[in-house]
Amino acid sequence: MVKYSFNSDKTSFRGINHKELSLNFLNIIDGEDKTSLLKNCIRNNYRHLRKWAKRTQTNCFRVYDKDIKEFPIAIDYYDGRFCIHFFASTREMPDPSQELQDETEQALNSLFGEDVTRVWRSRIKRLKTQQYEKIGQDQQYFVVQEHGVKFYVNLNDYLDTGLFLDHRLTRQMVAGLCKGKNLLNLFAYTGSFSVHAAIQGAKSTKSVDMSNTYTDWSVDNFKLNGLSLDNNEILRADCLKFLEQEMLTGTRYDVIVIDPPTVSRSKKMDEMFDIQKDYVDILLQSLELLSPEGSLLFSTNSRRFVFDQDHFFDYKVEDISSQTIPLDFRSRKIHRCWKITPVQKMALK
Ligand SMILES: C[S@@+](CC[C@H](N)C(=O)[O-])C[C@H]1O[C@@H](n2cnc3c(N)ncnc32)[C@H](O)[C@@H]1O
Repeated sequence: MVKYSFNSDKTSFRGINHKELSLNFLNIIDGEDKTSLLKNCIRNNYRHLRKWAKRTQTNCFRVYDKDIKEFPIAIDYYDGRFCIHFFASTREMPDPSQELQDETEQALNSLFGEDVTRVWRSRIKRLKTQQYEKIGQDQQYFVVQEHGVKFYVNLNDYLDTGLFLDHRLTRQMVAGLCKGKNLLNLFAYTGSFSVHAAIQGAKSTKSVDMSNTYTDWSVDNFKLNGLSLDNNEILRADCLKFLEQEMLTGTRYDVIVIDPPTVSRSKKMDEMFDIQKDYVDILLQSLELLSPEGSLLFSTNSRRFVFDQDHFFDYKVEDISSQTIPLDFRSRKIHRCWKITPVQKMALK
């Protein structure tokens, strides 16, 4: 038997008075200076998105996504701070050139002011051992909102920020499916799918992740939104072992979301996880837990991943990627997503 332990005493409000949160947006202060292509692009994108963001109570979105070839970066806006991703083409040159850094910094300084926080991140192909390791100790958390739902974010300490912005629409879609239903969220990270689902009226959510850091973070995200943990279970477990155990219990879920890493290795796992090698087993086991009228959403960021539908002949498999990539992501390959439903659901209609 796998023991799932979870220490809720460790959770906190991460030093933030969440009651004082407001949705403010940075003003553009450059007086329409049109001398820089990068600046023009960020200005136009930000202006356009800000209207939508105010309307939807969302203060985290992508303001620049490799729009110009000479600037191979993406810039995410997180409540008045910027996270700049540099996409290195080789491991030998993992960091942006000084020129690229200077031009980007100048553009942001001139558009929004020199005091605005920005954090650079180099997105090189991760080494297999490097997944989700801690990279800093600042512990500077702040809160962002997505459709009015709050999440803790940390731009400095981890390889990722706590909220994957490319899954904003997927979270909405999952939450929409979950009204009055039970959700199982595998590889749940900071629990964002589950928090959205709970806010939109899921009967229960169960979020499984093997990392202490992220299960604690999930709990804090639930608390931040005033949600009870009674119906929102958070389990620290290896999803592969969890599935084996859960299949023996006869539990059924109405909605299952699976958004695993491409590869993962940890002392807590017996074997390395590899999406291409393991997806068929994980999906087939998860489908055993799906209620006959249920839906499973599976997503991956791996560009090389090949989905072979022949393994799922009892199911209807739809590639719904075009419906799940938000408009602020110019790169339509940021992730792919499939919806899998039992075939008998179709036959009944
Ligand atoms: C790509 S993130 C998942 C993103 C998440 N679904 C979201 O949308 O926010 C990968 C997560 O999988 C977790 N993880 C990796 N291998 C795991 C395993 N074998 N069992 C459980 N969790 C695992 C990591 O701790 C990390 O939180």
